[in-house]
Amino acid sequence: MKMNKLWQLRGGFSATIGFFVLAGMTWGFLGFTKTVFAQHRMHGQQVKEDRNHPWMNESLSPDERADMVLKEMTLDEKIDLLHGMGMPGWPREVQNPQPELGNGGAGFVLGVPRLGIPIIQMSDAAYGVRSSAENGRYSTALPANVGAAASWDTDAACAFGTVIGKELRAQGYNMTLGGGVNLTREPRNGRTFEYMGEDPVLAGMLVGNLMKCEQAQNVIGDIKHYAVNDQESGRNEVDSIISKRALRESDLLAFEIGVGIAQPGAVMCSYNAVNGDFACENKYLLTDVLKKDWGFKGFVVSDWGGTHSTVKASAAGLDNEEPLDQFFGAKLKAAVEAGKVSMPELDEHVRRVLRSEFACGIVDHPTQKGVADVEGDLAIAQRIEEQSAVLLKNAGGLLPLNSAAVKSIAVIGPHASEGMMSGGGSAQVDAPGRPSAGWQAQVWFPPSPALTLQAKFPAAKVQFDSGKDPASAAALAKSSDVAIVFAYQWESEGMDLPNLTLPVMQDELIEAVAAANPKTIVVLETGTAVTMPWLDKVGAVLEAWYGGSRGADAVMNILNGDVNPSAKLPMTFPKSVEDLPHPQLVKPGPGETGEKAVMKTGEAKPTFSVHYDEGLKVGYKWYDAEKKPVLFPFGYGLSYTTFAYSGLKVTAGKETTVNFTVKNTGSREGAEIAEVYAALPASAGEPPKRLVGWSKVELKAGESKKVSVNVGEKYLSIYDGASDGWKLVPGSYTFMVGGSSQELALHEKVELK
Ligand code: BGC
Repeated sequence: MKMNKLWQLRGGFSATIGFFVLAGMTWGFLGFTKTVFAQHRMHGQQVKEDRNHPWMNESLSPDERADMVLKEMTLDEKIDLLHGMGMPGWPREVQNPQPELGNGGAGFVLGVPRLGIPIIQMSDAAYGVRSSAENGRYSTALPANVGAAASWDTDAACAFGTVIGKELRAQGYNMTLGGGVNLTREPRNGRTFEYMGEDPVLAGMLVGNLMKCEQAQNVIGDIKHYAVNDQESGRNEVDSIISKRALRESDLLAFEIGVGIAQPGAVMCSYNAVNGDFACENKYLLTDVLKKDWGFKGFVVSDWGGTHSTVKASAAGLDNEEPLDQFFGAKLKAAVEAGKVSMPELDEHVRRVLRSEFACGIVDHPTQKGVADVEGDLAIAQRIEEQSAVLLKNAGGLLPLNSAAVKSIAVIGPHASEGMMSGGGSAQVDAPGRPSAGWQAQVWFPPSPALTLQAKFPAAKVQFDSGKDPASAAALAKSSDVAIVFAYQWESEGMDLPNLTLPVMQDELIEAVAAANPKTIVVLETGTAVTMPWLDKVGAVLEAWYGGSRGADAVMNILNGDVNPSAKLPMTFPKSVEDLPHPQLVKPGPGETGEKAVMKTGEAKPTFSVHYDEGLKVGYKWYDAEKKPVLFPFGYGLSYTTFAYSGLKVTAGKETTVNFTVKNTGSREGAEIAEVYAALPASAGEPPKRLVGWSKVELKAGESKKVSVNVGEKYLSIYDGASDGWKLVPGSYTFMVGGSSQELALHEKVELK
């Protein structure tokens, strides 16, 4: 509770700005002013940067340009680039006295005006730009990231990133803090909606394409939270214990693929520790794997308050501390002067920040505030949601609803007359029609599903019931042709879900409504899997996730059949939390969590551990291996048409090519996500199968297409902890193709050497 209160501070920039200006003056009077404070007052950061320098030549490489600037910099200027300058709402005791240089976002890093290096203005931007209302603007809320993952569509992910990149710049930001890709090892994790599901290949491909396109808008891209920040409970003190092999083949593989595709300017290290060392001072993660093995050229930015040391963190590979300078300000300077951090090591951090500034185009393309194309972007948000909502059940072809035949519709749900649910925490977007929300506030994005539905079915009598009294909702359902229940599960950063059950008696509500009218359609607005004790009794279920600013419109287009759904689950929906690898969420001991202390002082130590003993068995790999039946498998999703698979031919080579044919056997146009899995030889010691590729195939009624999926060697390899490398285990591999991880009609065995 205390933790939540403290975090609530992180919202109202306008309310606090006066305080910061005052605080700045007071700090100055008291003589606490940092060197940078005086220095930048002197140089005037807001003065237009001097652009008349040899490194402004765009034909030089980012590395050459960074090296040239680095040679000109003083020690103080170098230190300036390695830490943030505060964040609205961060504890006042440590607030930096130069808030006027910020843009209202989560943080900013000073530039070097005399050398033409701009301020880095950072904003959270998971499913849209967060800090916009502070800025006098609104941003487009896209569907939750997990929804984008459900599209399995790299073009949709690219469109998603493009919208965010453009809106960031229009609001004066040149760095995103989006790009969450922690694997869904723990579906109760309160940030599951910000991530991309349970499979490393799917998650990595999508976050990579999203961030590549976002960064193409000339913002510094980011992928986070590196790594194994797979639950929020005790996130500052938890030590995630996991074997090297499991780490490399699961959680880190998602990052490896994402970083490889996007080449992001930054990677954010996470709050938790991994195998004993905090992620932001973990040499294995930051230097050995990220920078050396994967060749990451950008900089490592700490999560907010995730830095816990100077010398150790610097040596481990942390480049930039956020949001302040507790360890990478005066202490880093002193460590350099005392020879505890060498000048080459310091320069390496600075070079990385500079390189990203050049590589991502923020030096060559200074931001200019402008008006975001809200209408255009809303249309994109709607299209992405239409490709992201997963049809889970459709008994007797209840959907799409025939607008000519349906005369009366009951719309039921606590917020169905208001808007669609959205995810909270630093991911929250200030979208059109909503006031700026606190850090952990439940926000419902208009338009109202009830009104939108009425507009789509003008001839039908649409009546609303909040469901507060299940009996009255049931009575309305009984007297209506169909009932649509909008059910939700709210998630936010800084908390985990106690279970996977719909809250506030919604299960009971759905039971009552379905008992009154079997033509009950449940629209789920959740950020993660939920259990469905009523599943057998309802007619249809659509998982809409958090649908974004145009969520209601997209859902109605699916319900009335204007859009044929094509999305597939990016995570398993288990039958019960009892079936999870950890039926009990592992929590910190009784008493306060360390969050408060961390924010003020940076002090923290791991106080408890989560042992990820299930290792490689994340998501469907767990249920497959343990032979546990599930509610809905990974990769599952229905369409209004049907598809048939045939003609599998696998050709082994440097890349293995998987060829097959998909036919639309139904009567309407649709898109099928055709999934390819591989079972490795038994001697590899792997779970029964893994996703190795997929293709989204658009097909007219009756049409067939030949599909070819290339599978790189890495996707068929295992990580060998002993030799610290990937290896392909020679032997017999079974390739499986079909429409979900449990409907794989085609099989073929091939020998790989
Ligand atoms: C979150 C990050 C976020 C940062 C800045 C942290 O609490 O974990 O994801 O980018 O705050 O708001």
